[in-house]
Amino acid sequence: MRSHTATMVDRIEDTSRADREAALADAGHNVFELASDDVAVDLLTDSGTGTMSNDQWAAMLQGDEAYAGSASFDDLAAAAEDVMGFQHIIPAHQGRGAENVLYGAVLSAGDTVLNNAHFDTTRAHVAANDATPVDCPVDGARDPDTDAPFKGNFSVERARRVVDDVGADAVPVVVLTITNNSMAGQPVSIENTREVAAFADDIDATFVIDACRFAENAHFVQQREPGYEHDSVAAIAREQLSYADACVMSGKKDGLVNVGGFVGLHDDGRLHEQCRQRGILYEGFSTYGGMSGRDMAAFAVGLREAVEPPYVAERVAQVQRLADALTDRDVPIYQPAGGHAVYIDANAALPHLPREQFPGQAFVCELYREGGVRAVELGRFAFPDTDRRDLVRLALPRRTYGPDHLDHVADTAAAVCERGTDVTGLEIVSEPELTELRHFSAALQPVA
Ligand code: F0G
Repeated sequence: MRSHTATMVDRIEDTSRADREAALADAGHNVFELASDDVAVDLLTDSGTGTMSNDQWAAMLQGDEAYAGSASFDDLAAAAEDVMGFQHIIPAHQGRGAENVLYGAVLSAGDTVLNNAHFDTTRAHVAANDATPVDCPVDGARDPDTDAPFKGNFSVERARRVVDDVGADAVPVVVLTITNNSMAGQPVSIENTREVAAFADDIDATFVIDACRFAENAHFVQQREPGYEHDSVAAIAREQLSYADACVMSGKKDGLVNVGGFVGLHDDGRLHEQCRQRGILYEGFSTYGGMSGRDMAAFAVGLREAVEPPYVAERVAQVQRLADALTDRDVPIYQPAGGHAVYIDANAALPHLPREQFPGQAFVCELYREGGVRAVELGRFAFPDTDRRDLVRLALPRRTYGPDHLDHVADTAAAVCERGTDVTGLEIVSEPELTELRHFSAALQPVA
């Protein structure tokens, strides 16, 4: 069975290699600067780039645009409660808006935040509060070749060592990112979620789940965690999220919408009130928070669709198909494939390039030159201060591309690998002050 058919298409035009060469030079070898019309297959992100259902479009026409007391907000709040178990939400324009609302409320200068791995916006919000983000991945998470079911897990052992060092009072927040986007989209088990909840409780910290890919994570739990094989994705998602005190949600992922987000809370105590006030200040009144009524209406429907079979099983299977197509063509990838993306191991693909020459970004540029494929580097260029591998993420927008696109991407990546030592490294020409976010706007040039 298939979960959907296409009823509307977006036509794209072909570009020549010369066009792409010129576009890339104009873009300062940073694919965030490319015009989408110049891109054939856009795997830059799975965030807000998916295809909505006709039920979502229909809901948009009924959006209630009232400033206060919008019925569309009530629909979204009801969906957040039914699907994710959070009785209270503070709406935000997208995930990072929710991060600003929540982290600004709970963090003070000098604090430390523990996370299985911070995504770039999370890291930047922690840093913006003069706090220190510390990643606590499990052993083997950085190894692209070990095959383990839950490489996204949080290492409580590592976290305890940090707490021993800085003191529990300096750690007001513990975050679990599901799935773990900066760790190759790997899932987190329920068993690990329970351990992290107990650890947070032990040090009296607020336990936050970054839930933006909660449905994909629940699918992996169903497929891989003993004892969950007979449970529905919906039931697993609710259980996993029930262990957290709060969530930050970007609707642009498993909310199946183009924009939107919220902070979710189980109770309406002090933290709720603090978030509500920050929400009003930064996002908008508590019944819209940066979204229009129609955005909230579509989000409410999308959240429910995300846990309805066979949607998410099909979605993750498509990502696996891309991984298989790449492996068949000997393109080295991080194993196993993630829930929303496949990550190419650029250090293995372009071993002649030293890390200072950004092999990941060089691979990204080459994918575009070769086949008009836009990917994103999530290695040393995106995360300057870490020793992570130089991975290139191919993120699949939800319900958008078909098998022909995937074959084109795999053929293009194989062609880049074949070019091998012809691929030149890059150096940074200019970068913003906030280096946590440099991959969005830095400019590069080929190394002479
Ligand atoms: N947390 C995680 C784990 C994310 O992957 C993202 C966004 C955010 C928070 C912020 O949400 O974009 O709605 O403000 N990830 C996108 C990506 C941008 O391409 O992976 P946002």
